[in-house]
Amino acid sequence: MWVSYSGAQLAGTKDLPVRPAPRVLDIGCGSRRDPRATEGMDLWPSSGVTIVHDATRIPWPIEDDSYDGLVSHQFLEHVPQGSLDGVNLIFRIFDEMWRVLKPGGSLEFDTPHADSWDANNDMTHQRLFTPWSFRELWVLEKNPLYPRKQWEFVRMHVDRGYPGAPYVRRQLPRLDRVFTRLHFFRPRYIFCTLRKPSH
Ligand SMILES: C[S@@+](CC[C@H](N)C(=O)[O-])C[C@H]1O[C@@H](n2cnc3c(N)ncnc32)[C@H](O)[C@@H]1O
Repeated sequence: MWVSYSGAQLAGTKDLPVRPAPRVLDIGCGSRRDPRATEGMDLWPSSGVTIVHDATRIPWPIEDDSYDGLVSHQFLEHVPQGSLDGVNLIFRIFDEMWRVLKPGGSLEFDTPHADSWDANNDMTHQRLFTPWSFRELWVLEKNPLYPRKQWEFVRMHVDRGYPGAPYVRRQLPRLDRVFTRLHFFRPRYIFCTLRKPSH
């Protein structure tokens, strides 16, 4: 008798739980969406943008707990000064990131350091940050009147601009780590990862 088996049966995978692919949103992706992201949000339509939306218009058109991860590159410095319902827009945006992220999901962002050439040389930048600025996201001692979400701190890194930095970073990462600690070189970008607690 002829019996045919499916590929999954032959591979013995039929009992594996089927997990949906992780959903990752790139906020302020422009036309250069992070390759790890499955969706992108931006003010303007372009390749890679799947949600055209002004991030300062809250709530975002996204359901609660939608994403396994969020990334945002070089976007936060474009958030205008000002507040919404008496709360500074930057906090409202972090709260919105929290809302659309699943518990246990992580948020990775980068932004120019306030002391960098990059931060000051672009007239569309509306905010300047140092690593200290973000501390309020996981240490809630300031502004106790606004009960913000308490993110878990995962890691932070500040890279520094020095001649040949992209090459050294790629080819000689140990030397890059030494140069990065030398305050002689100007800071360039802040890289930060936070996590929404799983409970
Ligand atoms: C410097 S670009 C960074 C683009 C991309 N993430 C990258 O790293 O190449 C900043 C992006 O933020 C977007 N942006 C600025 N303000 C925004 C807003 N209010 N809502 C959504 N996107 C915004 C801009 O349209 C732009 O694509």
